[in-house]
Amino acid sequence: MPKSRVTRRALLAGAAPLVAAGPLAKLAFGEDDRLATHLGHDHVHSNLGHAAMIGAEVPAVGGPHDLDELTIPPPALPHQPGRVREYELVAVDRSVEIAPGIEFPAWTYNGTVPGPVIRATEDDLLRVRFTNGGTHPHTIHFHGIHPADMDGVFEIVGPGETFTYEFPARPYGMHLYHCHATPLKKHIHKGLYGAFIVDPPEPRPPAQELVMVMNGFDTDGDGGNNFYTVNGRSFFFAKHPITVSRSRTVRVYLANLTEFDLINSFHLHGDFFRYYPTGRDEPVLFTDTVMQCQGERGIIEIDFANTGLFMFHAHQSEFAELGWMGFFNVVD
Ligand code: CU
Ligand code: CU
Repeated sequence: MPKSRVTRRALLAGAAPLVAAGPLAKLAFGEDDRLATHLGHDHVHSNLGHAAMIGAEVPAVGGPHDLDELTIPPPALPHQPGRVREYELVAVDRSVEIAPGIEFPAWTYNGTVPGPVIRATEDDLLRVRFTNGGTHPHTIHFHGIHPADMDGVFEIVGPGETFTYEFPARPYGMHLYHCHATPLKKHIHKGLYGAFIVDPPEPRPPAQELVMVMNGFDTDGDGGNNFYTVNGRSFFFAKHPITVSRSRTVRVYLANLTEFDLINSFHLHGDFFRYYPTGRDEPVLFTDTVMQCQGERGIIEIDFANTGLFMFHAHQSEFAELGWMGFFNVVD
């Protein structure tokens, strides 16, 4: 067994509230009882079957609305010539709790991992004032079309310095941003990234809109992720299912900022969705599973056929077991 896998399980075993979760613990340990016993966590198994995979007993950090700001994007605005969209981003070194009792010493934009959702309509002038309040040099590199001196590669912003990125937002689609200081892998996995939505001039049809940034956290510094999440907290949407309406399209702006693992994925139970790579024109897939490489992103549109609880998670089972899973609660 490769070292990183052992370490991942050891870490999960060390997180007592996670272990107490019964079926969750079984998910994490079921295939390797010997290892769990060896680690001194055989008491895990005595708890099996007592807790649900959903709801109050799920080991996730925080209250039901803690991730609203990262999950519910600001509304799309129709095209308006000459409009300026202004954002203020500050890089801050900050510890974030990604699972109960598990602190990650993050580098953040505005204190959260991922950073804030940045949204503009195509041709808006995007103005992002960036202050580096951290202890390392950082930048903001946006995906999209912009001048070379706005690319977040050459204009390194040192601690205490400020830089203003300014360019017309284009092309419309689902994009992302991240720090591009070196070593790049470190600046990304420490948490400096977020979703960047550029709306088409003619707004998309009304929908219940959600943002999901898939990411991972290497909490032991071995170059492999120990926890996987969407929007920064393991099992958050299992503890707090996302209520959606059957009569309304659900639109998920999905991006993959997971470092170390080459791909991540989104799998929906009980239904199919349309998938628009990079948020462009025609859907190219009607499916229940889509994968994204690092930096890849797209838009998912779901019209639920049935009401009830439907799971969504990474189809890499290990990612799901280590936190990347949740539920939609579909109601009439
Ligand atoms: Cu950086
Ligand atoms: Cu990139």
